[in-house]
Amino acid sequence: MGDKNNRIPFGEDNYTHNIDRNNERSLDRRGFMKTMVGAAGLFALSTVPWGAVAAKELLGLGNKEYPEKAIAKVSEMKVGDAVNFTYPGDHDKALLVRLGENEYKAYQNACTHLLCPVFWDQGEGDLICPCHKGKFDVQTGAPTAGPPTRPLPEIVVKVEAGTIYATRVKRYEEKL
Ligand code: FES
Repeated sequence: MGDKNNRIPFGEDNYTHNIDRNNERSLDRRGFMKTMVGAAGLFALSTVPWGAVAAKELLGLGNKEYPEKAIAKVSEMKVGDAVNFTYPGDHDKALLVRLGENEYKAYQNACTHLLCPVFWDQGEGDLICPCHKGKFDVQTGAPTAGPPTRPLPEIVVKVEAGTIYATRVKRYEEKL
């Protein structure tokens, strides 16, 4: 009477059942790992094109096209004058310098050292950064003094019907 509780429940069946279960678990783990490896592979593959795009951008291999933007009227600028503008985005500060009757140079003017705004020093004929006495060649945008080591990105301009337009940001020629 009452011996029901003395029986070992499940006995061998339980053992076999457990083995199957363990196998199932290990298969589950393997399956899970396979899924994870697959997912990681898929993620790596999916990021390849974006990585290539980013590298292209950083190396300046992309010659970017942006909509043209009017900067100033020729009649508003004397030779030697400079005007601030933004290009291509409203937060991309830039500087246009009129160097001659038909000669203009424009650069994005965030200093390539620590992003202080770069100014046109008409007296010196240099683009200068007051933060750490950085200097850039107005003809090329290349750094000529102070801590900056990379040139200012140049903006290509054109003159049409008395107006100066920014047309694109020039390829960024960084030496690696
Ligand atoms: S931020 Fe321009 S020289 Fe340092």
